[in-house]
Amino acid sequence: MEDNKKGNIGTDIQFAANLLKNGHLVAIPTETVYGLAANAFDPIAVAGIFEAKKRPHFDPLIVHASSIDFIERQIVSEFPAKAKLLAEKCWPGPLTLILPKSSNIPDLVTSGKNTVGVRIPNQEQSLALLRQLDFPLAAPSANPFGYISPTKAQHVADQLGEEVPYIIDGGDCEIGIESTIVGFEGNQILVYRLGGLSVEELEHHLGEKVEVIKDSEENPSAPGMLKSHYAPRKQLLLFENITDDIIRKYGNKCGYLLFNKNLDNIPKNKQIILSQKGDVKEAAAKLFSALRSLDSTDVEMIIAEKMPETGLGFAINDRLKRASFVA
Ligand code: TXA
Ligand code: MG
Repeated sequence: MEDNKKGNIGTDIQFAANLLKNGHLVAIPTETVYGLAANAFDPIAVAGIFEAKKRPHFDPLIVHASSIDFIERQIVSEFPAKAKLLAEKCWPGPLTLILPKSSNIPDLVTSGKNTVGVRIPNQEQSLALLRQLDFPLAAPSANPFGYISPTKAQHVADQLGEEVPYIIDGGDCEIGIESTIVGFEGNQILVYRLGGLSVEELEHHLGEKVEVIKDSEENPSAPGMLKSHYAPRKQLLLFENITDDIIRKYGNKCGYLLFNKNLDNIPKNKQIILSQKGDVKEAAAKLFSALRSLDSTDVEMIIAEKMPETGLGFAINDRLKRASFVA
């Protein structure tokens, strides 16, 4: 193994499979963000995830598998036609479906709900790993609860290196923002969390409109929907546009997160442009890494500008709003 011992980062899928079979945690790359995985059928292994993340137990986990067939036989008890259509069109991919759960799935995974969140990730190494296992993997994002999701193996090592025996290195996550979470109520299709699959794409596949659920703090149907979430440690201020007035007011003391244009009067090392060419997909892929890097530099606050309201721009703005929310 050419593994970096510090943080236990490597690419040995067999080693990862053996750890998981023995009830240990492994951090896995996906196309969205890195996940902190355990055997979804084993409540004791799953409890380790909550401990490592310091995650409240009311927060259900997403279950990952490598085939629709396996999901149908072992994870869900029903697979409604519209859900099946989406699964066939979008998996492997950044879509989580909320479906009635099978009795194989322990209550700890679903926080006692009778539904389970499930998806097939679009990442070669994790798919290879899943194919070696006869159980699915419960995996939330591999960050301490409430902090920014990891999009590189090193992000996981930096924050959970002590708690996680092995981190599979899959390089940078291609999409960089969490999966879109979709549920079904009667005939309605509900989006619980905006994510890597845009609402436009969803509606295109379904040939009908979906409803994007407004979150409620009291009863978050998905804690990814808590108002304050995905947050850097530094205060983040979100603006429609970064005007000259804003720059005069905050100046060099702050770090700037920008869509496609740099700021003339601010030092280069205090601004990050998410996509020079103005592509929201590229911006999504770089978002969390940029937030981490501004969070770790010597700035007092982070000033971010809203992304264009198209495609993944909505999901990015959703994360920026939550990152900026001060209770
Ligand atoms: O892209 C992703 O979804 C990543 C990768 C690792 O797959 N995972 C991820 O997991 O973002 P996590 O735990 O950070 O967010 C999962 C969200 C939570 O907010 C949880 O409440 C919601 O999914 N969720 C899971 N099962 C649910 C259920 N049965 N009903 C409602 N929400 C559910
Ligand atoms: Mg998360």
